[in-house]
Amino acid sequence: MGKTVWKGGTLLGPVPPVMVTCGDMENSNIITIAWTGIINSNPPMTYISVRPERYSYGIIKERGEFAINLTTVDTVKWADYLGIHTGRKIDKFKKSGLTKEEASEISCPLIAESPLSLECRVTNIVPLGCHDMFMAEIVAVDVDDNLIDKAGKLHLERAGLAAFAHGEYFELGRSLGKFGFSVAKKKKRGGAPKKKK
Ligand SMILES: Cc1cc2nc3c(=O)[nH]c(=O)nc-3n(C[C@H](O)[C@H](O)[C@H](O)COP(=O)(O)O)c2cc1C
Repeated sequence: MGKTVWKGGTLLGPVPPVMVTCGDMENSNIITIAWTGIINSNPPMTYISVRPERYSYGIIKERGEFAINLTTVDTVKWADYLGIHTGRKIDKFKKSGLTKEEASEISCPLIAESPLSLECRVTNIVPLGCHDMFMAEIVAVDVDDNLIDKAGKLHLERAGLAAFAHGEYFELGRSLGKFGFSVAKKKKRGGAPKKKK
């Protein structure tokens, strides 16, 4: 088995192609972001890396807030469109027909069609090179009721989430196992319990 060594690059995949909303309910914008992830559990923290030339950059920097809206199979075409056009020239909410929804902790709108949104407050900005990283605390999470069962369990696997890898969008496929499945004990089948000797 051989491997070809290339110079350092951004070939991590899959990553989530999220739709980041910024501004307020009257004046808002949406930017598609792939450079995002979770960086701490408690407090829950995330980041988005944004080029300073993006229209959204100044809005997020000034207001110190943004929301990460997850992209699904149904919205992925819009996520792509929102990542090609700038809010300097068009109203992206109007153009896409995506619905603005009020957040609970921040003044940016959320995208109603998104099954899950993270409301984020910026804690610091780290210049990295061509992108600046906005580190942020996740102050609220908004989940579509249809994804929560009667016991209060979230079924994000039913949301039809989209992934992005090497410039291409994918639909998440079949489950390969739950967290910890490699060490989980097999459940015993029904029937009378064996008597101890
Ligand atoms: C799938 C995808 C991922 C993207 N990821 C990023 C990113 O992580 N950071 C960034 O600055 N721009 C990213 N872009 C580009 C911006 O979304 C794009 O330049 C957008 O038009 C900027 O919008 P704005 O000028 O309204 O802020 C991405 C675009 C696409 C399609």
